[in-house]
Amino acid sequence: MKATAKAHTNIALIKYWGKRDEDLILPTNSSLSLTLDGFYTTTTVDFQEGLTRDVFHLNKEEVFGEAYNRVSHFLELIRNISGKQDLYAKVTSHNEVPTAAGFASSASGFAALAAAGSRAIGLDLSDEELSKLTRQGSGSACRSIYGGFVEWKMGENPDGSDSYAVQIAPSAHWDVRIAAVNLSSNMKKISSRAGMKRTVETSPFYDGWLESLPKDLAQIKEGIRDKDFEKIGEIAEANCLKMHATTLGANPPFTYWHDTTMSVMYVVQELRAKGIPAYFTIDAGPNVKVLYLPEDEAVIEKTLREIPNVTNVTLSKPGPGISYLGVE
Ligand code: ADP
Ligand code: DP6
Ligand code: CO
Repeated sequence: MKATAKAHTNIALIKYWGKRDEDLILPTNSSLSLTLDGFYTTTTVDFQEGLTRDVFHLNKEEVFGEAYNRVSHFLELIRNISGKQDLYAKVTSHNEVPTAAGFASSASGFAALAAAGSRAIGLDLSDEELSKLTRQGSGSACRSIYGGFVEWKMGENPDGSDSYAVQIAPSAHWDVRIAAVNLSSNMKKISSRAGMKRTVETSPFYDGWLESLPKDLAQIKEGIRDKDFEKIGEIAEANCLKMHATTLGANPPFTYWHDTTMSVMYVVQELRAKGIPAYFTIDAGPNVKVLYLPEDEAVIEKTLREIPNVTNVTLSKPGPGISYLGVE
């Protein structure tokens, strides 16, 4: 009753930023992402007779508190589906991505947990079923089931039966690169979950954000289909700025940006002014991801590394969906 799975993070080009149902994790809008090969989580789930509670180790340390509760609550969903209510698990996970710093560790983390946990307990779920299950661990994670370009369809049913991700183009469709610019690996003060909740409940800008989304989504899908880099870059950058603008209108107001976040944004816009197509996007954290094309890799990496207070730059190609590294 043991299985190991690997899942990659994804970066949203059209952001998920708000829930219409917090228990089932149903979003207020559809979103779209690119799975990255450079960042991933590997998780082993071992259901053992005789355990009286779940045990969770992340990066070689035992985890308690909120992060433990999220994992244990998720294993409870798996137990309920399989009907094996009395079985507890030892979960051992390793993040090849900074945890809770806006690099989408919850996406790779819960996708790996869902894949390993469901296999370990003997379930053989379709991708659609696995995506729906994974969604209930962390919304963005339902997109990490697949490689390449992925859309999470928000659905409309109150039970969540039509809210899951689908692949819209495989990673081989288009070699768009992402540079992850690291300024800080510190855990953020406001989790994605808390940040979007406060924004939905209090930001007067939230309705404007929602209204603008269907057009962004439709157009970026055309851009992906046509491999129109400027089109997808412009839409993704503007979509990111709109999302972050909603947090400034929240009560109390907040932002995930640091001063260096803005320096990186400025440098990316300068690169464009020099004729090098590059666009940024930022999730719920201070770190910046820069989209570029393979032929510009050398100049992009050099330019980003020279920005003061940038601690690391990791280059990534489009990545694969989940894989199983062992089932016993
Ligand atoms: P991020 O930008 O990293 O996704 P979030 O605030 O969305 O930040 O989520 C971070 C939380 O995700 C962690 O505090 C923890 O609860 C959970 N998490 C991260 N990695 C894992 C993992 N490998 N297994 C299970 N849960 C994880
Ligand atoms: C800004 O999926 O981390 O990265 O569903 O509460 O776990 P929960 O939140 P999470 O939110 C991700 C927000 C985002 C945008 C995105 O990935 O689409
Ligand atoms: Co997250």
